[in-house]
Amino acid sequence: MRSIAILNQKGGVGKTTTAVNTVAALARSGHRVLLIDLDPQCHATLHLGLELIDGDRSVYELLTSDVPIADVARSVDDNLIVIPASLDLVGAELELAETADRETALARVLSTYQQSFDFCIVDCAPSLGLLTINALAAVNEVIIPLQPHFLALQGLGRLLETVTLVRGVLNPPLHISGIVLCMYESGTRLAQEVHRDVTEFIAAAGPDDPWRNARVFSTVIRRNIKLAECPSFGQSVLDYAPSSNGAIDYLALAQELAGDPAPQESVTAAAAQPVEDVAPSNPADFAPDATPEPASPVERPVES
Ligand SMILES: Nc1ncnc2c1ncn2[C@@H]1O[C@H](COP(=O)(O)OP(=O)(O)O)[C@@H](O)[C@H]1O
Ligand SMILES: [Mg+2]
Repeated sequence: MRSIAILNQKGGVGKTTTAVNTVAALARSGHRVLLIDLDPQCHATLHLGLELIDGDRSVYELLTSDVPIADVARSVDDNLIVIPASLDLVGAELELAETADRETALARVLSTYQQSFDFCIVDCAPSLGLLTINALAAVNEVIIPLQPHFLALQGLGRLLETVTLVRGVLNPPLHISGIVLCMYESGTRLAQEVHRDVTEFIAAAGPDDPWRNARVFSTVIRRNIKLAECPSFGQSVLDYAPSSNGAIDYLALAQELAGDPAPQESVTAAAAQPVEDVAPSNPADFAPDATPEPASPVERPVES
């Protein structure tokens, strides 16, 4: 499973829009996808039309008590399972702070489900607090959405420092795999300048920097009103406006991310791809990975 946190501690840069529409596009092209809403604002949960009522479990219970994913997960679409957030998540940071696995609660949960999904995407809160540290300790990759304006790179230093720290202390495979430019105004000089600055910044990375092999996705997400409208309808842009630029851009981003071949035709071709290994549509069907058999001791040739 590839596990990816969508992270930028600034709000309003396109994290949730990217998380929701990228998972929808990945699922449509046949990948088994898990989306985790790790933001107490619950934007991804609401964007996908999920409403939690009193007594419904959410990512909060997953982190703070021993409930299985199946009790929390919701099936949103073929191949797409969502772990919703609730307002309780505000309290989770405080509760977690008291526990021994305060930074690794999410990693503990995810480690048992590596075989169930091809992708796990975590929509992070606009902060570098304990919930975000949990995301960074649990995933292998970080994708940073940036909005190309003149302060786009401001704050990036702290984000990169945090990733470097978590990698050093908790999660050595962690790296920044990509930067995606969102709300891109095609044809403006500023957008092109930010694109160039980010590319130069990555090229100057040192050998041990976790952003050393990051790419600036060649797909940019253009500003598109359908992307701003679709959350009110509880739908991804692929369902709400399948022929919009927003849908086209997120399908292209998902393909670039997954390394899939480009489709002949955008939405329909991707949707028509054969799906061999479908995620169970009923979340209760999820079982943790079987405990691996202990490896048999390597047989050594008898020395003569
Ligand atoms: N490419 C885009 N074009 C138009 N509106 C967008 C685009 N991307 C995001 N938005 C809107 O901008 C706002 C902030 O985006 P969001 O994804 O919620 O950011 P974040 O999760 O980083 O806070 C939302 O209202 C969203 O609908
Ligand atoms: Mg958000």
